[in-house]
Amino acid sequence: MGKLRVAAAFTALGAVASILTGCGRSDSAATESELDAAADKRAGELVSQLTLDEKVQLVHGTGMPLMARTMGMAVPPGALYGSGFIPGIPRLGIPDLNMADSTTGVLVSDATTDVTALPAPIGLAASWNTQLAHDYGARIATELRTLGYGEGLGGAVNLASEPRSGRTFENLGEDPVLAGALVAARTRGTQSQQVIGTIKHYAMNDQETDRATIDAQTDERTMRETELLAFEIGVREGQPGNVMCSYNKVNGTHACENPYLLTEVLKNEWDYRGVVQSDWGATHTTEQAVTAGLDEEEPGAAMALPPEMASGMGSQPGPHFAVSLKDAVTSGLVPMERLDDMVKRKLRTMIRLGVMDNPPAPGGKLDLKAGAATALDVARKSMVLLKNDSIGTSPALPLDQKVRSIAVIGGHADKAVLSGGGSGQAGGASGLFGCQQPPAMLFGGCAPWHMSSPLDAIRAKVPGAAVTWTDGTDLVAASEAARAADVAIVFATQWQTEGQDLVTLSLPGPAEDPFNQSYDQNSLVDAVAGNAKRTVVVLENGSPVLMPWHDRVHAVLEAWYPGEQGAQAIADVLFGQVNPSGRLPLTFPTTDETVSPPPDSGYHQGLLIGYRRYQAENVAPLFPFGYGLSYTTFRYSNLNTTTRDDGAVTVTVTVTNAGSRTGTDTTQIYAGLPAGLGEPPQRLVGWQQTTLEPGKSQEISVTIPSQRLATWDAASDSWRDNPGEYSFHAARFAGDPDAPRSSVRLH
Ligand code: GLC
Repeated sequence: MGKLRVAAAFTALGAVASILTGCGRSDSAATESELDAAADKRAGELVSQLTLDEKVQLVHGTGMPLMARTMGMAVPPGALYGSGFIPGIPRLGIPDLNMADSTTGVLVSDATTDVTALPAPIGLAASWNTQLAHDYGARIATELRTLGYGEGLGGAVNLASEPRSGRTFENLGEDPVLAGALVAARTRGTQSQQVIGTIKHYAMNDQETDRATIDAQTDERTMRETELLAFEIGVREGQPGNVMCSYNKVNGTHACENPYLLTEVLKNEWDYRGVVQSDWGATHTTEQAVTAGLDEEEPGAAMALPPEMASGMGSQPGPHFAVSLKDAVTSGLVPMERLDDMVKRKLRTMIRLGVMDNPPAPGGKLDLKAGAATALDVARKSMVLLKNDSIGTSPALPLDQKVRSIAVIGGHADKAVLSGGGSGQAGGASGLFGCQQPPAMLFGGCAPWHMSSPLDAIRAKVPGAAVTWTDGTDLVAASEAARAADVAIVFATQWQTEGQDLVTLSLPGPAEDPFNQSYDQNSLVDAVAGNAKRTVVVLENGSPVLMPWHDRVHAVLEAWYPGEQGAQAIADVLFGQVNPSGRLPLTFPTTDETVSPPPDSGYHQGLLIGYRRYQAENVAPLFPFGYGLSYTTFRYSNLNTTTRDDGAVTVTVTVTNAGSRTGTDTTQIYAGLPAGLGEPPQRLVGWQQTTLEPGKSQEISVTIPSQRLATWDAASDSWRDNPGEYSFHAARFAGDPDAPRSSVRLH
């Protein structure tokens, strides 16, 4: 019988994220807790001076300024152009609080504001780089604060259990350890700029179909070892001031009034001191929600919606707190202590993160040059080279500067790069290309694009070459252009958005995306590949895509939604100025059937999410989790494992750059748990990135705390260390058959 541990798990988890992320905490625990105590004390003193009306005012929003302004409607004094606003209490020095969506950049409705649009979070996840995630959060937060927003609503970490989810692009892939470490680093980056960071959508909100009513029926062990583990790492290591609960139900109760999620796990077990904020329209009651642990209702007032959206949104529940909370308290239904706790959480968060004493002022001037530099850095590190066949003796990519002619085809590559839709887009995008806003689409059917032209960036690389453009609508013209050129580069796009799931992972055509797609993309790739000397496909997508033409093209570059600097980054990788280092944060299947059941089915895969399922069921994916090629090659040798008294395991392995170019490798450590535990074959337990010059070697070391190797014991509500034989694999990707491995007995 393994040891049951509770307290140690928390410390270990904290250590895990620091070990995993190299994001060790610079300040000592004493300083953190002293600052916490001071904020708690001061918040308590403020609460004691507030009237009941003032307390209620501080725990709900006043509508959605972004939407109200779009509709030409009035907004409260002090409200800016974002998604939420809570007026302050001037007599006590409590400032207004404006909040904005910030998934890939600040989302505001005033067209005059140009902000930085970073690559989508799924691209950040492909970098496997926690320092980059920190910089990503800090960059967006710098712009939030400069524009007057004290709270950012980015930070989604729902796992890609349903890869067709319309919000896959907003999240960080299918593995809880990778996603948790990255969202923790992103949150610390956000809050380093004195902006309240958010982690969302808590929890099990892994699809858009029926999102407000779907009931995620799943067992506790599955939740704790998959999506809740991502949130646990994010909350413990990121210390977010805000956790947004989700629209869906979990085991029969809406997430935003679910005592198990909000109080038992988040507040009691994880010791979360910040605010639980409802998603916009995800509050269904007052007393039940408050008692379960909800601290703030958003948007908190009737949300003005354009008619074409209102019909798509259905009836918006609420508002509740603004109309019922005061009575609930005066009648004793809600104890005053609970309301005081809600207010104290909000105020201590504002104090602790600098928003109280240094409230952001609107109207600052953004440093868009610095923003562009971050956007380019993230885009370059997010790109995943999926295929790179040799033609004769040399690989299809990188392209030689001496290439004489290139045919650039499709995907609006002459003008722009694609962005995801809904609240996960950044300002500054524009719905282009003749798209007509279709009626009753939940969040609009017109794809937003960033005006960054891959065609221009490619032409700038080879000014002496003939670079033609064909828009892809005419197959004959495209195949002729391909035939006439040394290289054909086809851009393929898959648009997705909050509010609706993809019907398929196949590249969308007019049937799947009638408002943005005017031709069959698979036919275009086939037509080009049938005539080109060398065919390169560049993907701009948020979810995995199927590739029926995979064997007929020479190279495939995964660019995701690459942000405002995407064109430059794509050209830098295609021509070799950047050696691609991205690794897939989710599995690419061969067909739709090999992914989980259709999006209206809830959660039946249990622990078998992503690569864990493919390995358990021996199904070969098209491209596995963690996969990515380089313009060089890496070798692993001398794998060793040592154990520590506290049950942690240190894996060391030598990484060698066996190729001819400097490159960055991500060595992934997977563990196989003892047989008979009902666990999938392997789980990611750590990774380390190394940049090596040709011929150089480096020994890397990854320490895995025992908690990372534990299983969740529902009977005792704690992590269990199981005795037995554990295997450790140093892999290039999940299921790497060439991964050196070592076994060790533990516990
Ligand atoms: C949306 C999203 C959430 C967003 C919020 C405000 O419906 O679910 O991610 O932050 O409402 O726009």
